[in-house]
Amino acid sequence: MLDGKKTLYSGMQATGTLTLGNYLGALKNWLTLADEYTTFYGVMDLHSITVRQDPADFRKKARNLLTLYIAAGLDPVKNCIYFQSHVPAHAELSWILNCFTYMGELNRMTQFKDKSAKHADNINAGLFTYPVLMAADILLYQADVVPVGVDQMQHLEITRDIAQRFNGIYGEVFTVPEAYLGKVGAKVMSLQDPTKKMSKSDENPNASILLMDDTDTIIRKFKRAVTDSEAQVRYRDEQPGIKNLIDIYSAVTGKKPEEVEKEFDGKGYGDFKLAVGEVVANMLKPVHEEFDRLTKDKAFIDGIIKENDEKAAYYAMKTLRKVQKKVGFTERIR
Ligand code: TRP
Repeated sequence: MLDGKKTLYSGMQATGTLTLGNYLGALKNWLTLADEYTTFYGVMDLHSITVRQDPADFRKKARNLLTLYIAAGLDPVKNCIYFQSHVPAHAELSWILNCFTYMGELNRMTQFKDKSAKHADNINAGLFTYPVLMAADILLYQADVVPVGVDQMQHLEITRDIAQRFNGIYGEVFTVPEAYLGKVGAKVMSLQDPTKKMSKSDENPNASILLMDDTDTIIRKFKRAVTDSEAQVRYRDEQPGIKNLIDIYSAVTGKKPEEVEKEFDGKGYGDFKLAVGEVVANMLKPVHEEFDRLTKDKAFIDGIIKENDEKAAYYAMKTLRKVQKKVGFTERIR
């Protein structure tokens, strides 16, 4: 606990381009958390290399993600935004925690099973120990809370198990983190199959709105969104496509689903889709402009990287030193 505030930790992988789902479901909700918590947000580039990356493209994507965090409104002074690979303590603690994690536990991870099936030609040890690195991320900063989506809940559970196991042997070293239960973001579904989550890896480009899509692309994709033949804008499970569009419209405008139903009562799907496309495009426009401005300001971003790397390393190192001492490594001579 720093400054009497609880600590919150989260991050995103440095790969792929973010979607509207990442934005409405996570990033947008991070913006106000620094008032209540001491916050750390990593660009999780160590995790990214569990899948093969093209170096030049990867370097650009990782820096773009950090820039996008800031462009979306995360204040880099109030929030510690940094690259995981710049803080060596992550890899070091990860090794130690590997020795406190069982093969059987890791074998049960559904993400490992899914990714192994998807990358059958590259089932590397990093993919297997991915959750241990994630545990190291969280435990290094003594995080009290971690906002994660349902797909990462199992990884948070194993983090808690590892922390409790370690504490059971060595005393209270780690804070045992909880899932962040504050306001949860909207769950955005695919525009082409509203029973599936919107995903950046969808093969159908019309299924997802990318955060960097321009206005025309956004409107075109919404126009093509799969709906139904009920011809009424109603918020119900029987109309998953329309329900998803209402959820998106609600998340952007702050209006309740009932208000949206009323607003579009008697209007056709064409009008509604256009309206959703417009509010989304208008929401993203300032983010794009800020992103462009920041991308050109290399010195500013470099400064943020340097400052926040140091800040993150300071907190991480405190925990790492404690852990090293607890497990019995020989003291350093200065
Ligand atoms: N595995 C997370 C994801 O893919 C990213 C991540 C890595 C993370 N380390 C973390 C999220 C620590 C929260 C806390 O979404």
